[in-house]
Amino acid sequence: MKFKAIIFDLDGVICSTDEYHYWAWKKMSDGLGVPFNREINNRLRGVSRMDCLEIILEKYHGPALSDGQKAALAQQKNDMYRESLKEMSPDDLSPEVKETLDALRALGLKLAIGSSSKNTPFILGQLGLKDYFDAVSDGNNITRSKPDPQVFVMAADMLGIAPENCLVVEDAVSGAEAGHAGGMKVACLGDAASKGAGDWNMQSIRELTDIVK
Ligand code: BG6
Ligand code: MG
Repeated sequence: MKFKAIIFDLDGVICSTDEYHYWAWKKMSDGLGVPFNREINNRLRGVSRMDCLEIILEKYHGPALSDGQKAALAQQKNDMYRESLKEMSPDDLSPEVKETLDALRALGLKLAIGSSSKNTPFILGQLGLKDYFDAVSDGNNITRSKPDPQVFVMAADMLGIAPENCLVVEDAVSGAEAGHAGGMKVACLGDAASKGAGDWNMQSIRELTDIVK
């Protein structure tokens, strides 16, 4: 086996919450009269909530916003986002994701989450994965968001496995950069795969079972 552990990003890898993020940021941006599109949204992948807001505000040309107003906008977005998360259930876990996780575990690999999201515990609960992973490193225990490697380095530490023995799975270019900066190999999906950001760029998460061997 090439690796001892796999560290999965959450939004856009384990579940399609990246679409809910897009929808909530779009509503917030529309309310503020700021243009927002899929291209800008791709820059938000892997990035912390407040850093996402700053990226969106690059196109804001109204009166200066105080820190309090920015916090309120981020809160407004998160409230709308959490409303969509309430609808999630274990049925939202796709068979390809569940079967791949189970197959990787059966190969003797440790499985962890490395996500910038502060909503990680809630999402894992909604999906029925609360106790599934061997370690969960998320937006609640980091001070620097991707592309900084902190979230992945902490996940590897929690597992007690050296970074070079970990494979990161990501849909964000910032996340692929974070994995590489942490000394890990990276397998990409979605936007990051289409940009060739990974050591492997996959069409389907199922490819992992061959990649790790
Ligand atoms: C990442 C997403 O997983 O979490 C980002 O890719 C998001 O788009 C970040 O901004 C923070 O999420 P949350 O749930 O803490 O607002
Ligand atoms: Mg992601």
